[in-house]
Amino acid sequence: MEKVLTGIQPSGALTLGNYIGAIKQMLKYQDMYESYIFIADMHAITIPQDPIKLRENIRSLLAIYLASGVDPKKNTIFLQSENIYHANVSWILECLTPYGELGRMTQFKDKKEKNANFSAGLLTYPVLMASDILLYDVDFVPVGKDQKQHVELARNIAERVNKKYGEIFKVPLPLIPHDGAKICDLVDPTRKMSKSSDNPKGVIYLLDDEKTIRKKIMSATTDSEMRVVYDMENKPGISNLINIYTSLSNLTIKDVEEKYKDSNYGTFKNDVADLVVSVLTPIQEKYYKLLESAELDKILDAGIEKTTSIAKEKYELLKEKVGLYR
Ligand code: TYM
Repeated sequence: MEKVLTGIQPSGALTLGNYIGAIKQMLKYQDMYESYIFIADMHAITIPQDPIKLRENIRSLLAIYLASGVDPKKNTIFLQSENIYHANVSWILECLTPYGELGRMTQFKDKKEKNANFSAGLLTYPVLMASDILLYDVDFVPVGKDQKQHVELARNIAERVNKKYGEIFKVPLPLIPHDGAKICDLVDPTRKMSKSSDNPKGVIYLLDDEKTIRKKIMSATTDSEMRVVYDMENKPGISNLINIYTSLSNLTIKDVEEKYKDSNYGTFKNDVADLVVSVLTPIQEKYYKLLESAELDKILDAGIEKTTSIAKEKYELLKEKVGLYR
């Protein structure tokens, strides 16, 4: 069976962008492929984190996965930092990756602007991500558009290493969702909706209460045209709301344009808010029940056991190929 792997950083409260770009894909692919899902906690520390908050976020992310419908019977779910082979493989791959290639990554360039004294880990972050992916010989990596460049880097690394040392890694493909590849900020719809945004009004958090969700959507930036028409360039605000609507319903962009052709923005926004609330409310109810459950630890225990043995084998092979043995 073909394999998929993906992960999310526990670097803050999850957003609707994470749900549409990543979690919805997990739900789809868990029935089609052998699936590995993890909590990218080592990626989270590439920028400063409060230790107590980070630990809470790790548990919270796992509960969000489960509450959203990620089924522990269908997926291997694990915590990245518990599998020591990710960092070990990453080190070898770092030594096989040109510095210049990492400096060109868009996300690195953006994040270093925001973090004075940014860490060396911020630069090498995509290599750790390549290691996450390549350890498991996966066929596909479902991610939002912002992570596509990193998956492409993982492909390049795999190809380069295979060429130099013989077939070690499978070369994976990114899977990017159709309309939900990039959900944008509600206040500034030219920017990605992000966990680390400094204006919470533009971001729908998965745990926002109904009133807050409605308020944020009703006050989302739009334009003065009053036509529900998709045009990302000239009408980014309304196009973003259309993307949210189509991603959470079975409708296409054309269907939505047709449905709202005689409506004003208020009516459309109200329906978007209803839909978002109807998706998030049941997730939130399950989430709060799961958070205290001992099930969470059992799931991670099973996940680490399985992934450690797979990853160890790949690490040993890589070590041998590069000459790290006596
Ligand atoms: P992270 O935690 O930033 O985001 C998790 C997932 O959510 C997607 N995403 C979005 N999709 C659509 N619209 C948005 N506004 C939006 N914001 C985030 C991201 O594309 C991602 O799929 N480096 C990764 C985590 C990671 C990983 C991996 C992923 C580490 N190793 C290996 C896949 C495979 C990250 O920081 O994602």
